[in-house]
Parts: sequence; structure tokens; C-alpha cells
Amino acid sequence: MKIIIGMSGATGAILGIKLLQVLKEADVETHVVISPWAAANIQYETSYTVKEVEKLADAVYGYKDLGASISSGSFQVDGMIVAPCSMKTLASIRMGLSDNLLTRAADVILKERKKLILLTRETPLNDIHLEHMLALSRMGTTILPPMPAFYNHPSTIDDLIMHIVFRTVDQLGIHLSPAKRWQGMKART
Ligand SMILES: Cc1cc2nc3c(=O)[nH]c(=O)nc-3n(C[C@H](O)[C@H](O)[C@H](O)COP(=O)(O)O)c2cc1C
Repeated sequence: MKIIIGMSGATGAILGIKLLQVLKEADVETHVVISPWAAANIQYETSYTVKEVEKLADAVYGYKDLGASISSGSFQVDGMIVAPCSMKTLASIRMGLSDNLLTRAADVILKERKKLILLTRETPLNDIHLEHMLALSRMGTTILPPMPAFYNHPSTIDDLIMHIVFRTVDQLGIHLSPAKRWQGMKART
């Protein structure tokens, strides 16, 4: 399997990093593009350098490199995840701007009718954000806001992050065993 990972400048750079680590362990080939604000947030929010993040990928492309392979539908990939996905990148993808390699690659994924998963991160949401998400969802995009779950009793921030990461790769049909899954509960109904 071959997946494009786009990282944009919303908070939650760690989500893209953990996704890259998990996909590497799952032997998935990753092609990465990192926006300038994502790079800034990697440095600000995490203990990783941008270089260390890039080393997790099989291929890395420049944000402005619209001549890169992932800019064309003839380059075969199985899908794309944007993690985290800022509201600016969400808007650009929805409007088909293709003004940088991340949004161009997403545009190609949409035109080729392949799997696009957006970890949209903002709160609260205004009508613009919601309209963009609804429009893209109706085009077949998976809108997967990185919302924490508590039913699996997370005890660390890493537990919260990994739950989102496992739910994201579930969307690609990659069902990893460490994921704590809901087994049902005994409740009075
Ligand atoms: C520390 C930090 C956190 C941010 N968090 C968010 C966020 O959660 N969601 C969002 O839409 N934008 C967020 N932004 C703003 C984006 O980085 C900004 O809109 C930028 O233009 C996005 O560009 P990009 O999508 O090309 O990376 C944040 C910016 C900074 C510096």
C-alpha cells in the first residue's frame, strides 16, 4: 500500500508523526508533504525535528514542488491522509485551489476517486468550516476530526493520540492489534 501524508499547520503535529510511525511499522509506503506552518508546529509542539519526521517517510516532497510525482494522477497511490488538517487547507481542498503540493495532491486524489481522509482540527467551528466539511464529505472524503474518546479509559496523552491514529488507519483497512476496541458494556436499558 502507498499513502500520501500531508501535514498542515493546525495544532496536533504529533498526529501526523505518529501516523507515519504506525504506517512504517505496517510496511506502508509513505509519501510526505509538510506545509511551512506544519514545520513550524512540529518544532513548537513536539520533541521531533522536521528532519526526523521526514526520515519516517519513504519519500519527501517540497511544499511548492508542483512538478513532484504525487502532483499527477498517473502516479499510483492508494489514498491520502491530511493530519492535522488546518481550516485553510480544508478550504483550499474544498475549492480545488491546488496552489501547493499538498492541496494539489488532495485534488488529484479526489479526481481519481481515491480515499481522502482529513483530520480537520479547529474548535469551535464556524459555518465556513462546517460547509467545507459537508461539501467534501458529500464528495466521498472522510472527515475525521481528532476528537478524544474516553470509553477505552485513556491514562496518558499518548493513549488519546494513538486512539485517533488507530481509528484513522482503520479507514484504510489497516486494523492494528494494539487498538483498544469497544467490546460492549453491560448496562440497564
Ligand atoms: C501554534 C499554532 C496552532 C494553530 N492551530 C490551528 C488549528 O488548530 N486549526 C487551524 O485551522 N489553524 C491553526 N493554526 C493556523 C494555521 O497554521 C494557519 O491558518 C496557516 O495559514 C495554515 O496553513 P497551512 O494549512 O498551509 O499549513 C495554528 C497556527 C499556529 C502557529
